[in-house]
Amino acid sequence: MAVQSPSATNTQKWRFMVIRDADKRADIAGLYKQAFESYWEQADDTTYGTTGPASTEAQRMIDSAVYLVDHLHEVPVHVLFCVEDQVRDVPLFDQATAYGSILPAAWSFMLAARARGLGCCWTTVHLTHADEAAKLLNIPDTVTQCVLLPVAYYTGTDFKAARRIPATQLTHWDTWGQKRDGS
Ligand SMILES: Cc1cc2nc3c(=O)[nH]c(=O)nc-3n(C[C@H](O)[C@H](O)[C@H](O)COP(=O)(O)O)c2cc1C
Repeated sequence: MAVQSPSATNTQKWRFMVIRDADKRADIAGLYKQAFESYWEQADDTTYGTTGPASTEAQRMIDSAVYLVDHLHEVPVHVLFCVEDQVRDVPLFDQATAYGSILPAAWSFMLAARARGLGCCWTTVHLTHADEAAKLLNIPDTVTQCVLLPVAYYTGTDFKAARRIPATQLTHWDTWGQKRDGS
């Protein structure tokens, strides 16, 4: 399903690394934990409750993120979506082309997995340690890691639509700042 996604001029530069080996998953989880801890130390935004009480929504997200940090090594399969391209220090067009050629594949994978009873979580936190992950997995420098999906069969059936900011509040018509209702 992932490879049915679009890619720039159909170059199909997506590369998929499926990590099943328990020791490697433990090492990735170790890098993820280090990365998360430094990210969290720097997150001083009140939205996340680091300098004040978090909203219920934010607290759920934090609890979920922290749970994953402590359990990532137990998730039976990690799938790392990469692109055969370098995105460091390249023009916006090349960045957008590279990312746009892998992210739809990762999202299609998530939807296809979901339809088969498998849950995933989109994660990028380990990328602050991408070079160490590349070394561990023997990924060449011509390849950029983009998203790490822990994948496992989920339990529970109470999934529901997420509460999001309504699109009408975020959509501009013809001129930036002009909303549909004329406000
Ligand atoms: C680009 C991107 C990076 C993300 N990175 C992480 C991550 O490193 N760790 C994590 O637990 N969740 C990560 N997430 C998941 C978001 O935190 C999650 O989608 C958000 O909290 C909303 O939750 P929901 O999608 O379950 O409604 C990421 C999502 C995106 C789109």
